Amino acid sequence: MEDEKITTYLQENAAKFEEDLKALLRIPSVSTEEKHKPDMLACAQEVVRQLHEAGIPKAEIMPTPGHPIVYAESEQLPTRPTILVYGHYDVQPEDPVEEWISPPFEPTIRDGKIYARGTSDDKGQFIIHIKAAKTLNDLKMMPVNLKFCLEGEEECGSPNLDNWIRAHADLLKSDVLVISDTTMYGPGKPSLLCGLRGLTYIEVEVKGGDVDMHSGMFGGAVPNPINELCRIIAALHDEKGRVTVPGFYDKVRPLSKEEHEEWLKLDFSEDEYLKMVGSKELCGEEGYNCIERRWARPCLDANGIWGGFTGEGAKTVIPARAYAKISCRLVPDQDDKEIAELLEKEIKRLASPAVEVKVTFHHGGPPWMTSPDDPVLRAANVAAQKAWKATPLRVREGGSIPIVSTFTSVLNVPAVLLGVGLEDEQIHAPNEHLSLENFHAGIAASVYLMQEIAALPEMKK
Ligand code: BES
Ligand code: ZN
Repeated sequence: MEDEKITTYLQENAAKFEEDLKALLRIPSVSTEEKHKPDMLACAQEVVRQLHEAGIPKAEIMPTPGHPIVYAESEQLPTRPTILVYGHYDVQPEDPVEEWISPPFEPTIRDGKIYARGTSDDKGQFIIHIKAAKTLNDLKMMPVNLKFCLEGEEECGSPNLDNWIRAHADLLKSDVLVISDTTMYGPGKPSLLCGLRGLTYIEVEVKGGDVDMHSGMFGGAVPNPINELCRIIAALHDEKGRVTVPGFYDKVRPLSKEEHEEWLKLDFSEDEYLKMVGSKELCGEEGYNCIERRWARPCLDANGIWGGFTGEGAKTVIPARAYAKISCRLVPDQDDKEIAELLEKEIKRLASPAVEVKVTFHHGGPPWMTSPDDPVLRAANVAAQKAWKATPLRVREGGSIPIVSTFTSVLNVPAVLLGVGLEDEQIHAPNEHLSLENFHAGIAASVYLMQEIAALPEMKK
């Protein structure tokens, strides 16, 4: 009876929910660009409007030294468990804009998918919980207390959120954290996400001489920072695809037999994966398959490298400086700061005494892992099963949401990551999109999750 009411309500409101998503997507809330500052505020205001409309009157914009946080809470009844929803209303820049089939901030539906920047990461995902709240409030069936923390700086490394969470730990007090900012294993394949990789991101500067030099007059006799930087980066892996930084693997938790076996059962096609990637072959650490390399093993990658002459034609020059941005994805129990220090030490050790090397730390965060036996994951399992009518798969992911660990440790709560994105939805790239089927199933899943969490014996007050 209750389920029927919910299903009917969701059907009747499906078009409205899509319109509300479009309203968010039209606002270019690019957090990394100063010119979009007014859009950030406008987007926060639209989120607040939708929270109010969902029956949560206490929704406000709270300032930070950067972009504001939208904080909201429903009436808090002492008899109910409290769910804290986290998400981000900021998006990545839209460039290269000429590669978009429809404009990035004009949401367009094609083939059951909605295209716009931020559809999958993360507006189309966090909004499902606002619409679930509206559903249960309108039907007078709300079984939990809700809190929402929606930030505007995730895409620039959440520089102010850590402090904000610590300063507002009382306000955020809750029983479980719920986040939708990840993917499902595939279409029709909901997932129980049990782990995310952590991140360490550094920048390296290599300085040779004081000024650029003629490569004929000086070449062969003076240090070349680009050559040197390339040699250093190349030396960070061995021929087995392992990272050579001493101590890098010391704290890596080996993959459990259970997970190894469960992942072998996932229908993974290397051919299809290759096609999606577009390269000739896959590569990585010897002894591990493609899924294990991304979900359970750490890795090191240069994200950008520059220096010297890159203009038209050929200019003969030995540059004074060369730069690279390097990231490591980390797994339990590696520590992001410790890895940054080990990496800095090794880069400096590898460098020839002829150059000066400067290493700066950008941002990072620890990996996160949970057990599928955690009661809240059992609740998520039932909710996802009901919404997608398929048994959820136990997975991890290679991406990072560093703030998950801050929330879980400061608030001492378990986390449920209910991702409704898909791997090929081109987040951070042109033509980002979201499956509307998953958007609607996600709203249903969030409704069921609220009910299942309220029904857990562990959550009884
Ligand atoms: N939503 C992503 C993280 C993500 C994507 C996790 C897919 C799992 C699967 C998030 O917005 C993101 O891009 N995070 C950054 C890290 C952040 C510190 C900049 C990342 O993983 O690179
Ligand atoms: Zn992102």
